[in-house]
Amino acid sequence: MKFLLLALAVSFLAPTLAQAAPSGDWDMERFRPNLHDKPSLQRGAQLYMNYCWGCHSLDFQRYERTADFLEVPHEVFLDNLVFTDQAIGGLMENAMPREQAQNWFGAAPPDLTMVTRVRSETWVYNFLRAFYVDPLRPFGANNKVYPNIGMPHALIELQGVPNLVCAEVPANGRDALTGEAMTEERCDVIEVADGTGVMSAEEFDQAAYDITNFLYYVGEPTRVERERLGVYVILFLIVLLVLTKLLAREYHKAYH
Ligand code: HEC
Repeated sequence: MKFLLLALAVSFLAPTLAQAAPSGDWDMERFRPNLHDKPSLQRGAQLYMNYCWGCHSLDFQRYERTADFLEVPHEVFLDNLVFTDQAIGGLMENAMPREQAQNWFGAAPPDLTMVTRVRSETWVYNFLRAFYVDPLRPFGANNKVYPNIGMPHALIELQGVPNLVCAEVPANGRDALTGEAMTEERCDVIEVADGTGVMSAEEFDQAAYDITNFLYYVGEPTRVERERLGVYVILFLIVLLVLTKLLAREYHKAYH
């Protein structure tokens, strides 16, 4: 029994621990989604449709459901966020030809409907803030969370030009020849060149938050409804428990 309880506790904690784990030498910042923050989700959808959707479709999500959840009237949504002649009931598919895309980028841009479920929302949030300039990469950009990614830095005009800053830090051990303390190069700071982006650092973090929050919603669009119903189910079970207890007492009386 004790073992079972322990196993249960570990299985609850494991995802939390996994999310906090650093990726390479990049310290992951925990992402806390908020599906009740409709303005954040609206901004996220707008940024996504403008900067990501051209490459990354959302094949398992419909415009109509999204508009309704985000509390955006259908006409406003169609006029501002749907760039094709798709109807409001359509799936959020784009026209990126997979085979050609594979030739262009090395890997076809994956559908992102489930990305926060596969990679975790913390991963996506940190990934969006971890691009840096790297002239050795085909698109001139690399990423601390997803090294050597075949994707350009899609938000560079908003963020500005992010440069990787390296520093010599003390390492374990001493040099065998000279006896001096060893150092190693650590490159884990990204500095945005002044005046190169439309947004300030805080605004950009907010934009990354909003996009991730939107993708978190898309990953499970029924989450809010499910959680709301969950409360009623638990209440119902509590009432049922009381009634069952009372019934059991009656039966007991009949026995003796
Ligand atoms: C010009 C096309 C293009 C644009 C625009 C673009 N991406 Fe990508 N993205 C790619 C490609 C190509 C890959 C696959 C790269 C690889 O696997 O090396 C990718 C990969 C990703 C991945 C990793 C998926 C995984 O699980 O492996 C995420 C997350 C992602 N993109 C998010 C975004 C977001 C968010 C935006 C908008 C801010 C965006 N992308 C804009 C082309 C694009």
